[in-house]
Amino acid sequence: MTDAPGLTAPGPRAWPVLGHAWRLKQDILGAFQSARRDHGDVARLLLGPLPMHLVSSPALAREVLQTRAAAFDRRTRSVALLMDITGESLLTANGAAWIRRRRLAGPAFHPDRIDALVPLFVQAAKAQADAWSAQVKAGEDAVDFGPAMAGLAFRIAAEAFFSSDVEGDVDAMERAMGDVLAHYWKRMSSLSDWPQRLPNASRTRYRDGLARIRGMVDRIVAARAGKRGMDLLERLLAEGGPDGLTSSEQRNEVLTLLMAGHETTANALAWCFELLARHPEAADGVRVEAQRVLGGRLPTAADLPSLPFTRAVFQEALRLYPTIWVLERRAIEAETLGGFHIPKGTSVLVSPFVLHRHPEHWDDPERFDPARFLGDEEHAAYLPFGMGPHTCLGMHFALAEAVAVLAVLLPRFRFAPVEPVPPRPIAGLTLRLPAGTRLRLEALEGP
Ligand code: HEM
Repeated sequence: MTDAPGLTAPGPRAWPVLGHAWRLKQDILGAFQSARRDHGDVARLLLGPLPMHLVSSPALAREVLQTRAAAFDRRTRSVALLMDITGESLLTANGAAWIRRRRLAGPAFHPDRIDALVPLFVQAAKAQADAWSAQVKAGEDAVDFGPAMAGLAFRIAAEAFFSSDVEGDVDAMERAMGDVLAHYWKRMSSLSDWPQRLPNASRTRYRDGLARIRGMVDRIVAARAGKRGMDLLERLLAEGGPDGLTSSEQRNEVLTLLMAGHETTANALAWCFELLARHPEAADGVRVEAQRVLGGRLPTAADLPSLPFTRAVFQEALRLYPTIWVLERRAIEAETLGGFHIPKGTSVLVSPFVLHRHPEHWDDPERFDPARFLGDEEHAAYLPFGMGPHTCLGMHFALAEAVAVLAVLLPRFRFAPVEPVPPRPIAGLTLRLPAGTRLRLEALEGP
């Protein structure tokens, strides 16, 4: 806790009772960006009576997420609602409960372990390419990209984490996940959380969706015998010992890793292809690099470091469309940030979306320019995987998966947008493409 009381942070004019709730519900990304532009790097927003502070300088973001992380925990509204879906897990736990889980799962995500999974990423991408080739030959050349990438990332996550073949579950899982996340966001962006027992269509879909997802998790856990993969399942399911998880804790972790591990990468890849479709020169850059390094063969783990432009394309896509576009923390005690008072128990928000487009930290921030990420320079205002103790566990996994997928798919297809106007991102738990965003495929010669 800091001593100075600090000033009340500035913010947009608020409506009585509602505060800024209506504006936030209409266009939360626009509201965040204008709060930063008009009121500076600490802006006060009101969700009804609840004050929240949006922090938009890299230095203050680091304070909240890293250097003063002990003063800002995750006992927040967003995590409480997420807990309804995943239970207590790596994504929602605090303190000793979180440390225990991170220790258990962490080693399976070490960069060395990820290399062993690259053949799986490559084969899954190749299978996707083969399916698209057949589709194009049959005269169907437009693909709905959100679901396509969700299916690909889900197959990869289930096989890599748990050696589970989920082919028969892909469509049902995506529908269930869509229903669950839609209802989560509805609750999140409402002023009051109406009692969850009252029936309505969204709640019924949420409950059915969650039951379907849990059923699949149970099947994965039940079929654990003889698993290999990254031995993640074995680690999580190890019984006994001081660190052993109970069976309901194990199920929470399996569900969490499936959800965190595919929803994020899928959306990031979908945005990346959308951007490449609108920037054919960057797509050609990926193809030229793939041709130079791979000469027509499929990539291996050893090739990935030699594909810096491909990686830069993905990093730049994550800059413009960071899948996790806002991080929420709670001030455990009254604090000051940047000289402003943060009342005890209130939310502090760090938005990668806002920071990644902050004009003081990026030249021409709205422009798609992968060259920003060539070279070793670190960008202080770049945090698509968060920072500090809760930095994304799956960062190396996601980067390797994305580079492998791009290096397989770009040499096989040219992508073109179907709609002339670039899509507006849909902000929910993750930043999604609008439903039905299609890209047109043109098949090229490839491996
Ligand atoms: C492009 C893909 C991904 C993005 C953009 C992303 C982003 C993030 C961000 C921003 C956080 C920090 C949240 C916070 O500080 O509150 C996070 C945490 C986390 N991510 Fe990812 N993620 C991605 C892929 C993955 C994958 C593939 C996994 C695989 C399991 C994963 C698992 C997790 C977990 C378990 C946490 C919680 C870590 C903790 O609290 O200790 N993520 N992710």
